[in-house]
Amino acid sequence: MRLNHKYLIVFPLALLFSCGAKNDNPGTEFSPNMYHAVPYEPLIQITDEDAGAWVDSDDDSYGEYYSSNPHNPHNMNMRVPPANTVKRTESGWLPYHIPKDSVDMAARLLTNPLDSSEQVIAQGKELYEVFCIACHGATGKGDGLVGKVMLGVAAYNVGRVKDVNEGHIFHVITMGKGRMYPHDSQIEPMDRWKIVRYVQTLQNQPE
Ligand code: HEC
Repeated sequence: MRLNHKYLIVFPLALLFSCGAKNDNPGTEFSPNMYHAVPYEPLIQITDEDAGAWVDSDDDSYGEYYSSNPHNPHNMNMRVPPANTVKRTESGWLPYHIPKDSVDMAARLLTNPLDSSEQVIAQGKELYEVFCIACHGATGKGDGLVGKVMLGVAAYNVGRVKDVNEGHIFHVITMGKGRMYPHDSQIEPMDRWKIVRYVQTLQNQPE
């Protein structure tokens, strides 16, 4: 068969021109949402209204890349939070600012948001057995496996510690005390309050 030279010209030209992009013809885009954000982006501030006009694919009068918010400072969608805004922690709590050595302040200010129901105490016991039992022992006498070699682990039901209140216990769990390291990065505040309820039952054991 004789090759028709016409096709050698027509095919490459057809290929070349099928990729054009103008107005309502976006040309060939494999994943347009990757290039052109559909939602507002917080930091985009392309203020040139004609930017990307050559690949414009929608009906608005701006270029494809124009994306800014003329009503906000710096044309950004993201706004500076109102003055004195305080970021919450991941669990929705305000940051804990009572200094480590101010346990008396914690004892005065903090109250347990949880009641002393059986369920709370049972959950507190479970957490206690993960985080505290190694040093403080099953009944809080300071005789856990680690407590036996690490002398001076407080017993909950003896002397001064017998009378420390819920805020005090919460603070010690959060910030640590002496050789007891802090647990704030390991135990959620609500879980700490559950442990407090359980520790209080151990404080009430007879000596
Ligand atoms: C690494 C061992 C260790 C672990 C784990 C540990 N503690 Fe302690 N804890 C200690 C030591 C040691 C002390 C005594 C600190 C001191 O007075 O110097 C203490 C003291 C305490 C006190 C008494 C504070 C006071 O005012 O004297 C409480 C209450 C307490 N711990 C609760 C807990 C709870 C609840 C947990 C689990 C979340 C826990 N501890 C985990 C070692 C530990």
